[in-house]
Amino acid sequence: MAVLTSRVGTLSFRNPFLLASGVWGESGESLLGAWRAGAGGAVTKSIGAEPRPGYPNPTIEEYGRWGLLNAMGLPNPGIRQYPREIAIAREAGVPLLGSIFGQDAREFSELAVAMARTGVLGLELNLSCPHAEGLGSEIGQDPALVGEITHAVKQAVKLPVWVKITPNTADPAEIALAAEAAGADAITAINTVRGLAIDPELGRPVLAHGTGGLSGPAIKPVGLACVWKIAEKVRIPIVGVGGIVSARDALEYLLAGASAVQIGTAVAFEGIGLFGRLPGELGLLLDRLGYPSVSDTVGRAHRPTVPAPPSPGRPNH
Ligand code: SIN
Repeated sequence: MAVLTSRVGTLSFRNPFLLASGVWGESGESLLGAWRAGAGGAVTKSIGAEPRPGYPNPTIEEYGRWGLLNAMGLPNPGIRQYPREIAIAREAGVPLLGSIFGQDAREFSELAVAMARTGVLGLELNLSCPHAEGLGSEIGQDPALVGEITHAVKQAVKLPVWVKITPNTADPAEIALAAEAAGADAITAINTVRGLAIDPELGRPVLAHGTGGLSGPAIKPVGLACVWKIAEKVRIPIVGVGGIVSARDALEYLLAGASAVQIGTAVAFEGIGLFGRLPGELGLLLDRLGYPSVSDTVGRAHRPTVPAPPSPGRPNH
């Protein structure tokens, strides 16, 4: 069977399927549950300096199995309360990254120091929530600010730092380049795609916040295109996220240039049992396609070895 170990810089995971920040990882027990189900590792809920209740309901609109539009408002217990949850998962050996969000370089670096003390293996900077005023993608669309924050965090801690970037900008690869230049160890791409649902009966937006972020299978092509373009520009590893529900989806991301993938919305649909299913399915798929390991797939679509099939009606020169 193909080797499923996934390396993202200095971090190594037993398989490339990581729990994405936000959907399931709020409590220590839920992080641990994802690991016990078979995940390669997990990223915590995004944690800020102070407790945040998030937005009022409704916060989610479902589009069948195609997607979820959410605007939760970054609810979290704050960095002083959260370490006790991390301890539950860390003591059981879960490879964890701590996700943090803040408003500027100073707040990010203070959070980074506090999060590093919890024993996480690395940090993920949420510079991409598409609907939080003064946070997330409002900062993450500006390459200079992304560079400043990444640099400050790298100065403050010794851990690997992944920068989670937004697709809601003209050139996500430019943002990734700014993060790389400032010392980021990996890029996580993508966060949700900004969207809006309107209720015609009520004549107003469905979500209390108005706009939200779309996730799920509908955004897979957007995520893949971002990973593809970023892989053309940066040398640091990429962690792909957006619409992955199957081993085949994950392989698409790996071939586009990702070294590992994260899964969020599919967990909301299927439950954490999917982490027990996906690694085996990926192993079988890699065996069938002749890839000896996950690392042999990374970025391979940029240098294909199999000739493209002839297009119907066109000669294949
Ligand atoms: C939310 O809490 O509203 C979503 C967080 C994110 O998109 O980063």
